[in-house]
Amino acid sequence: MLKTAAKQFCLYSGRCLASLSPAQRIIGHEKNLWVEYSALAIRHQAVNLGQGFPDFPPPQFLKDAWSEAVDIPSAHWYTRGQGYPRLVTALSDLYSPEFGRTINPMSEIMTSVGAYESLYAALTAFTDPGDEVILIEPHFDSYSVVVEVCGGKPVYVPLKPEGDPRNANNWVLDKAEFEGAFNSKTKLLMVNTPHNPIGKLFSAEEMEFIARTCEKHNVLIISDEVYERCVFPGHVHHRIATVPGAWDRTITVGSAGKSFSMTGYKLGWAIGPQELISKLQTVHQTAVYSAPTILQEVIARCVEREIQMKGHGDAYHTQLPQIMKDGCSQIMAACQDAGLDVVEPFGGYFILVDTSPLGLEFDTSQVEYDIQCVHWLTEHKKLAGIPLSLFFGKNKHISEKYIRLCFAKSEGTLKTGGDIIRDITK
Ligand SMILES: Cc1ncc(COP(=O)(O)O)c(C=O)c1O
Repeated sequence: MLKTAAKQFCLYSGRCLASLSPAQRIIGHEKNLWVEYSALAIRHQAVNLGQGFPDFPPPQFLKDAWSEAVDIPSAHWYTRGQGYPRLVTALSDLYSPEFGRTINPMSEIMTSVGAYESLYAALTAFTDPGDEVILIEPHFDSYSVVVEVCGGKPVYVPLKPEGDPRNANNWVLDKAEFEGAFNSKTKLLMVNTPHNPIGKLFSAEEMEFIARTCEKHNVLIISDEVYERCVFPGHVHHRIATVPGAWDRTITVGSAGKSFSMTGYKLGWAIGPQELISKLQTVHQTAVYSAPTILQEVIARCVEREIQMKGHGDAYHTQLPQIMKDGCSQIMAACQDAGLDVVEPFGGYFILVDTSPLGLEFDTSQVEYDIQCVHWLTEHKKLAGIPLSLFFGKNKHISEKYIRLCFAKSEGTLKTGGDIIRDITK
């Protein structure tokens, strides 16, 4: 059955505007989780631990980079579509040692408008109608929407707690279930580490298993690593592209917004072999042509600074893991004081909180418990979070009573949020 948009009429001609109705592929995708929950937080003037954006001011080196960039005339002009030369060169210098190979700045990197656009370009460039795309869930919401808009079919494989669910790394794939999801129609697999929303870091062994399975079935891998600089001290980020043999089939996505804690920058990049990146470029050059030049100049300077200061205490990427860990510890301590269990994360911006001890009762015949719980907390306790079930396409039962809170916040927000959590059962 064809899906139809509501009928509207032109005020002047009275003609039915049905022929101006949107393409079928976007119908059903009008709602956006971030729009909805940000509006909810604002409406109730709640402390926003929902959306993942740090609300602290930019560090001095970033402000300096802006003042210097503004005086460069060409930073105000159009630039090379696939990426501003100074930025792609800096990214190649940063990532080549981390990937254990020389990354060609001109052909193996594409910069984009946020990591979002790289993800969109990668999924769009490779998903044909009827293709199956394996999504490990819970998953970042945009993945499934883009797959569906392309006419592809998301195939969901859950991370399930094995052992103590309070440890993010205990949320694992069932190997047989994962392998069973592959068939001749499988085109792509999405993996995300550090993981949003669980805070899990995939181990080297897990990456090896996923890469080998994709190799066996000749499947492409998109690895969303936007939280790569937010890995807590003492823990390691494993890149699937570095598993022997995986580079040729992997696109790795990064984000300046997440790497420098300024999510409003909306600058991202995709890294991979020329044969794959050139296909993303086809989408990118038609959709946006290039990411904003001055922003790329600013971020190039920041990346160059990180390379120069690598390992030094003043390097931002030395400091960021501890900043994130401290924020997380504050929310964990507040939850502990309130008698709420959490899933302890090892990286990223988020922590899952088990709300069962709140003893809230809702009629769940129409709407999931966690959705009603978030609405209740936002309205009655002025604390905004995100329901975990919204990160699931199929296995929603796993989300049960978890909500996601963001700890990548300023001291003030963490303090106010922590105070609310401590008082929550009162
Ligand atoms: C897992 C994941 N991927 C991608 C993005 C988008 O990143 P950007 O803000 O650079 O577009 C986000 C943003 O929250 C995210 O959490």
